Amino acid sequence: MKITVIGTGYVGLVSGACLADVGNDVLCLDVDPAKIKILEDGGIPIHEPGLQEVVRRNVEAGRLSFTTDVKRAAQYGTIQFIAVGTPPDEDGSADLQYVLAAARNIGKHMDGYRVIVDKSTVPVGTADKVREAVQAELAARDSKTEFSVVSNPEFLKEGAAIEDFMRPDRIVVGADDEKAIGLMRQLYGPFQRNHEKLVLMDVRSAELTKYAANAMLATRISFMNELANLAEVLGADIELVRSGIGSDPRIGSHFLYSGCGYGGSCFPKDVKALIKTAGQHGNKLRVLTAVEEANDAQKHVLVDKIVERFGNDLSGKRFALWGLAFKPNTDDMRDAPSRVVVAELLRRGATVTAYDPVAMSEAERIFGDEPRLSFAGRPKSALDGADALVIVTEWKEFRSPDFDAIKTRLKQPVVFDGRNLYDPALVRAMEIEYFSIGRG
Ligand code: UDX
Repeated sequence: MKITVIGTGYVGLVSGACLADVGNDVLCLDVDPAKIKILEDGGIPIHEPGLQEVVRRNVEAGRLSFTTDVKRAAQYGTIQFIAVGTPPDEDGSADLQYVLAAARNIGKHMDGYRVIVDKSTVPVGTADKVREAVQAELAARDSKTEFSVVSNPEFLKEGAAIEDFMRPDRIVVGADDEKAIGLMRQLYGPFQRNHEKLVLMDVRSAELTKYAANAMLATRISFMNELANLAEVLGADIELVRSGIGSDPRIGSHFLYSGCGYGGSCFPKDVKALIKTAGQHGNKLRVLTAVEEANDAQKHVLVDKIVERFGNDLSGKRFALWGLAFKPNTDDMRDAPSRVVVAELLRRGATVTAYDPVAMSEAERIFGDEPRLSFAGRPKSALDGADALVIVTEWKEFRSPDFDAIKTRLKQPVVFDGRNLYDPALVRAMEIEYFSIGRG
């Protein structure tokens, strides 16, 4: 099939590359010539394990190409994915200007039937707006060309996006006409294997499904984080409580890990947007409002513990910080807890030496020229002469550290672990002062 993907960001590029990998011809469009140049030169503008390889082999096979030409893109694919960004605007609702601009460009230039697929996470009702935008462009040039609008939200996890796309748990498709449903079935045939993965529904339900999934997951995390804080006060261990409840199949064991808060490009934004959507319809999402509030507070727990240990004035103190990305296997720092931790430490006068396997240049970009923030080439060298170690992201390489180095390189052996990586009894037996989340 011939497919156009509009937007070569995270979702667009992963979708385009994976669709090419099963034999489709895919043209990816982006308005940013710099991004297209990187892609044409064989690079990728984001960090995602395995993506480079999939892009490279499909470009070489002639199935994947890139353009900034909106007319060519509109006339290329029968299926047109819209995978552009929907950043939150000031009031928290999703900003649809890029989605609607993409829709107008399709309407302006399309020269035959098109299935227009919303892949971006968009508020319920966006498909109608996309349909109107396309229709207005067609009417302006007296065209009666037919098209369908489909909602097909993505459930890709950063760091596991290729696997998630190639072997999805489910493929949610919201479509209101048979022609589009037929084409979507054909498109996703190669990803179904032996199981029916396609969950077909109406467009609005599909749009809501995406928000519902992320809001539910965010809720689990915030709930566990609050329980962890309570466990600490009560002298209980949240890790044991987690195993205790996770074995109930109604609860399940995934996504129950407490820590120093969730971040990333999806949960914070989608939680905000869903609360906003509800408000616009005179509806209140009380639980979700609390989820957001709890997460904002949770991003401060590490600094609260540090202040309790070292006092509020941290001038003259230096902290080694392991992990900047919002989670392992990505350089993404959007809404990352590390941003709050670093900012709060700096605000109290401390100096921070950070290490992250891939996100340090992103942190440099975010914090700019901050004289009290520096970066270490290795986790160990961040420790030298620091007053304590603060762990914010659970990168694999932090799971089994050289505890002797932690003891000898730090001024005194104090560790604040925002991801519960170690067995507290073991660490304390090594005479390391150990603060974790919700463990007695
Ligand atoms: C998420 C959804 O999982 C994905 O389906 C959706 O399409 C986009 O949003 P992603 O943002 O890549 O994906 O990250 P995810 O792995 O889901 O983690 C989100 C955040 O929750 C991270 O900050 C992570 O540290 C945190 N988290 C996750 C916890 O604090 N505890 C957990 O048990 C799980």
